[in-house]
Amino acid sequence: MMLATQLACVFLTSTFSEAKVIPFTFREPVSDAVDHVNPLIGNGGVIPSHTGGMIPSTAPPFAMTRWVAQTRQNYVSVPPYILNDTSIHGFQGTHQPAIWMGESGPAIVVPGAGTIRPVFEDRGMAFDKAKEITTASYYSVELGGQILAEQSATSRVGHLRFTFTNTSTPFVLLEATRSSVIGHSDPTNTTLPVGTINIDPHKREITGSNPERQDWIIGPLSTPAKNFKGYFCARFDRPFASWGTATNGTIHRGETQRTGTQLSGFATFSQDESVVNVRVGVSFISVDQARRNLDAEIRDGTTLEATARRTRAAWAEKLDRIQIEGATEKQKNIFYTAFFHTLQYPYETSEEGRYYSGFDDTIHNGPSYNGYSIWDTYRAEWAWLILFAPERMPGMITSMLNDYVEGGWLPKWKNIVETNIMVGTHADSQIAEAVVKGIRGFDMDLAYQAVLKDALVPPVNDGNISYGDRQENVDYEVRAGLSTVYADKGWVANDIHSEAGSRTLDYAYDDYAISRFAEVTNKSSDAEFFRNRGLENPFVLFNSETGFMESRNANGSWAGPDAGWTEGDKWIYTFDVVQNVPKLAAKRGGNASFVSFLDQHFDGGKAITSTPVNPRITFHTGRGACEDTATCPTNCS
Ligand SMILES: *[C@@H]1O[C@H](CO)[C@@H](O)[C@H](O)[C@H]1NC(C)=O
Ligand SMILES: *[C@@H]1O[C@H](CO)[C@@H](O)[C@H](O)[C@H]1NC(C)=O
Ligand SMILES: *[C@@H]1O[C@H](CO)[C@@H](O)[C@H](O)[C@H]1NC(C)=O
Ligand SMILES: *[C@@H]1O[C@H](CO)[C@@H](O)[C@H](O)[C@H]1NC(C)=O
Ligand SMILES: *[C@@H]1O[C@H](CO)[C@@H](O)[C@H](O)[C@H]1NC(C)=O
Ligand SMILES: *[C@@H]1O[C@H](CO)[C@@H](O)[C@H](O)[C@H]1NC(C)=O
Ligand SMILES: *[C@@H]1O[C@H](CO)[C@@H](O)[C@H](O)[C@H]1NC(C)=O
Ligand SMILES: *[C@@H]1O[C@H](CO)[C@@H](O)[C@H](O)[C@H]1NC(C)=O
Repeated sequence: MMLATQLACVFLTSTFSEAKVIPFTFREPVSDAVDHVNPLIGNGGVIPSHTGGMIPSTAPPFAMTRWVAQTRQNYVSVPPYILNDTSIHGFQGTHQPAIWMGESGPAIVVPGAGTIRPVFEDRGMAFDKAKEITTASYYSVELGGQILAEQSATSRVGHLRFTFTNTSTPFVLLEATRSSVIGHSDPTNTTLPVGTINIDPHKREITGSNPERQDWIIGPLSTPAKNFKGYFCARFDRPFASWGTATNGTIHRGETQRTGTQLSGFATFSQDESVVNVRVGVSFISVDQARRNLDAEIRDGTTLEATARRTRAAWAEKLDRIQIEGATEKQKNIFYTAFFHTLQYPYETSEEGRYYSGFDDTIHNGPSYNGYSIWDTYRAEWAWLILFAPERMPGMITSMLNDYVEGGWLPKWKNIVETNIMVGTHADSQIAEAVVKGIRGFDMDLAYQAVLKDALVPPVNDGNISYGDRQENVDYEVRAGLSTVYADKGWVANDIHSEAGSRTLDYAYDDYAISRFAEVTNKSSDAEFFRNRGLENPFVLFNSETGFMESRNANGSWAGPDAGWTEGDKWIYTFDVVQNVPKLAAKRGGNASFVSFLDQHFDGGKAITSTPVNPRITFHTGRGACEDTATCPTNCS
């Protein structure tokens, strides 16, 4: 995160200073906060650690689908848009706000002029970066000097408007399936998902389905989401002059239906139709549902201006809740863009009250969300969501409980199904935090049952699977190591399990969180059991000889200062006992000694360089958070 912010400043000065003129109609309603969102912040490098891995997409908060100009083929760790790229190959309806995980069932819209070129490598169009406009609710770009492409979106519908100039043969192509990259390290290792295209010239619709799921390889064996598909219904506001399908560059003119790989459908328009609007409804349930989502969210005849205005209003309603006095323009850009980024994951996936579950491959009633990256979000993002999206909390938690009912466990990193990414069962912490902060509106008994299972039931074959990062062909990882040594002695054994030191400390924190949940529901003996485990277990890793936490083997021997940590080191993890700081301070020789240890930590190159100006931030959460929960910050107005 720190790196991303530093890079962001560079982009602000180098890119954003050439102020681009955003048409007034796309700056309504008035919002100083939304004006300061720059979706290009956090984008720019070809590997995630060179940027924040952000995808500069257009959509409202927590949208099911986000739309982005596609400059390259995306897969795990590669975004569909990179700032330095020079050609655009279409507009993708992605389900990922950032690059950390693989895409699922995208729909892709490709405008063109002249010869129909369905193949990704052939269809790229040069674009004028100086004229590209990227905002939270509206995007526009000129392609090849022949097409002005404009984009906005609601949660389940993309709205694109293409203005064609200097061409007698405008067309728009919908790509259903493409060659899909498996995993994150080898772009030549691909599969060919089989999708469908249907063209109805009378209704001016191109519909289709796409079963692509780039993360299928790391899903638990027991819940493979076999029937997952992304469906779409694209409806045009202009009559088709001609139409057809295409498979890997071969055009089938006049064809209205096809099933296949590398499959697209297209419509051409008469030269007189210089402006073509297409709205693309998406669904995980069916083509019919995609059509219903389209009709429900963007009615026929709606202008792009109206769609963009509604989406901008949705951002303004959130971002205007915080006013900053005394901030520079650059500080406002950084702050409001970060705020914008915090309201994207998890994304809603229920459609008119129903949702597709990858866990049991069935349609259910109720709320559902996807894109839970819980190891990354339980510390700060979740608390922020409780403050700024309390109205979504019951749905987000119920969605986690639905996963538990349908798949057997609460989520860790849910991307359609579980992906076992990172360690710990921090859904325990998230649910407990919501409970302690007064969030209600979900099944508390079921939630308690689910967190108890995390805390007490080990994964299958716990003793002989290490559950390494992205290990393939295993089932739910949950608290790997729970049954081998942890239950007895309090640590996860480094010679049996991956990331053992991090797991030990994370499990202890989750145990402490469960004790707080148990207190609220008056389960006092549970509360005592988990409080003891949560407060004491971390210190079985404290090596008094070094003064640092250190992973241990099954036989109790120390595993070495660098063993068993994930995305951190002995410095980071030694402080990872936020539930029992007094004991950590005592172990480090008392308060004064602990303070100098902290200084040593931050002086060791790990400190965040702060800016000299400290702007004053005022919260205006009065539209919900403060009244509804016990979470009001002290300076809340
Ligand atoms: C992008 O372009 C800038 C300016 O030319 C260059 O400094 C930077 O290294 C490039 N980034 C990548 C990831 O290629
Ligand atoms: C129209 O397109 C043709 C071929 O791409 C190009 O040579 C010509 O300059 C264009 N005219 C205008 C007015 O842009
Ligand atoms: C492609 O990826 C899969 C899953 O990671 C792996 O099992 C397979 O060996 C890879 N194939 C090649 C040719 O590298
Ligand atoms: C797609 O077409 C290209 C170019 O003709 C060819 O090299 C490639 O093998 C084709 N892919 C498949 C899967 O048929
Ligand atoms: C792991 O243990 C289980 C149960 O004891 C056994 O069925 C399985 O074959 C073992 N797997 C390996 C790879 O040893
Ligand atoms: C817990 O006990 C307190 C005090 O007896 C009581 O007020 C509260 O309603 C109880 N809460 C639950 C969830 O039973
Ligand atoms: C303890 O386990 C470690 C790692 O498996 C091993 O290297 C070491 O020899 C063992 N020590 C004893 C005393 O058995
Ligand atoms: C250490 O600091 C904490 C927090 O200020 C305080 O409560 C505690 O009494 C101090 N301990 C000692 C031994 O001074």
